[in-house]
Order: sequence, then structure tokens, then C-alpha cells
Amino acid sequence: MNTPFFAHPTAVIDEGCQIGEGTKIWHFSHIMPNCSIGKNCNIGQNVVISPEVILGNNVKIQNNVSLYTGVTCEDDVFLGPSCVFTNVVNPRSAVNRRGQYAKTIVKKGASIGANATIVCGHDIGEFAFIGAGAVVTKTVPAYALVVGNPAKQIGWMSEYGHRLQFGTNGLATCPESGEQYLLNSNTVTKK
Ligand SMILES: CC(C)(COP(=O)(O)OP(=O)(O)OC[C@H]1O[C@@H](n2cnc3c(N)ncnc32)[C@H](O)[C@@H]1OP(=O)(O)O)[C@@H](O)C(=O)NCCC(=O)NCCS
Repeated sequence: MNTPFFAHPTAVIDEGCQIGEGTKIWHFSHIMPNCSIGKNCNIGQNVVISPEVILGNNVKIQNNVSLYTGVTCEDDVFLGPSCVFTNVVNPRSAVNRRGQYAKTIVKKGASIGANATIVCGHDIGEFAFIGAGAVVTKTVPAYALVVGNPAKQIGWMSEYGHRLQFGTNGLATCPESGEQYLLNSNTVTKK
């Protein structure tokens, strides 16, 4: 069968999945039924993508990540190695909560560091940055940098992944791209 994407022979792709051109799926990863995966994604080794998960274009997933039903990652999201999603806030083995999965949206351009845990139902804003090992228990604003357990905001990050230092005029410049950002009422926007 000719496919416009690459899947290593050890990967398992279940029925009903849509997978975009240029996407690569590496060793021992499992894509469960009815997932929608965009173009040019890279899905590392030992990744599990549960039924009906939606990924945009150019999503990069490092090794050992499980994406549970209810998770959506928009375009250009980066998921660091062994980061953890959840979809039930109060699981009990003897209580069936199938069909009651909480939704979590990771918005365009956001990055999640290695070993971070996202408690379900807390969206991650556009270009937000979750530090390695953080435990996210609240919604994260666009461009925010959060670290620790529970995750607390310690600053802001540019779209190129640099700390933004805002002056008294509310402006900051990314040292790599030269792009300017405005901080107003605790909200960052790109100028
Ligand atoms: C969050 C991060 C981007 C911060 O980088 P930075 O801006 O260079 O920050 P610094 O190293 O100057 O640290 C600033 C402070 O935050 C603390 N800090 C940094 N990263 C932290 C983390 N992940 N968790 C808790 N605290 C952290 C530092 O200890 C320091 O604290 P201090 O001011 O009390 O000394 C980086 O540490 C990180 O976690 N990157 C993710 C790496 C990753 O997972 N990559 C995956 C692909 S391989």
C-alpha cells in the first residue's frame, strides 16, 4: 500500500485514522482508531495515541508519550520526552468513567518539557512553555512560562523560545527573531 506518510514496520496504526503527508511514526508506536494526525508530524518511539485524538500539522512528539482521548494538539506543538497527559481527574478502577473524558487543548506553538504532567481540563495557551517536570493544574495563558509542582508562572517566552524581558513601556524584543511583544493587563500579544 502506498501511503503519503512513513510508519516504521513495528508501528501499529488502527482503522479509521487520517494521517497527513510527510508525517513519520517511529518504532513501537501505536495509533488507535479514528485519530486525525496532520502533515509533517514526527511521532517518536513508544508513543501511544488513543482513539479520536486530534493533532495538527508539524506536531513533534518525543519518545514515551501517551496522548489520551480528549487531548487535542494544534499546529507546531512540541511534546517533550515522557510528558504525561490525563483524561480523568478522579479515576477509580471499579467506577466506569468511559465517555466522560475531560478535554485538554494544547494550542498552536506551545511546548511541554520532559516529564511534565498535564492534569486534564487545563488548556495550554498559544506558544506557552511548560518547564521540565512541571505539574500543570491550571489553565496556562498564551506565551506564559510555568515551572514546578504545582506549576507557577515565572515569566513569558517568545515564539522562538526565549525569555521575554518587558520594559516599563510594556514592550519586549525576542533576541533571536527581533519580534516585539506587548504585555498589557497580564496578557502578551505579538506586535
Ligand atoms: C523552563 C526552562 C525553559 C527555563 O530555562 P531558563 O530560562 O534558562 O531558566 P534558568 O535556568 O535561568 O532558571 C530560572 C529559575 O527557574 C528554575 N527552573 C528552571 N527550570 C525549571 C524547571 N523545569 N522546574 C523548576 N524550576 C526550574 C531555576 O532553578 C531557576 O531558579 P532560581 O531563580 O531560584 O535559581 C528550562 O529550565 C526547561 O525546563 N526547559 C525544558 C527542557 C526540556 O524538557 N526539553 C525537552 C526536549 S529534550
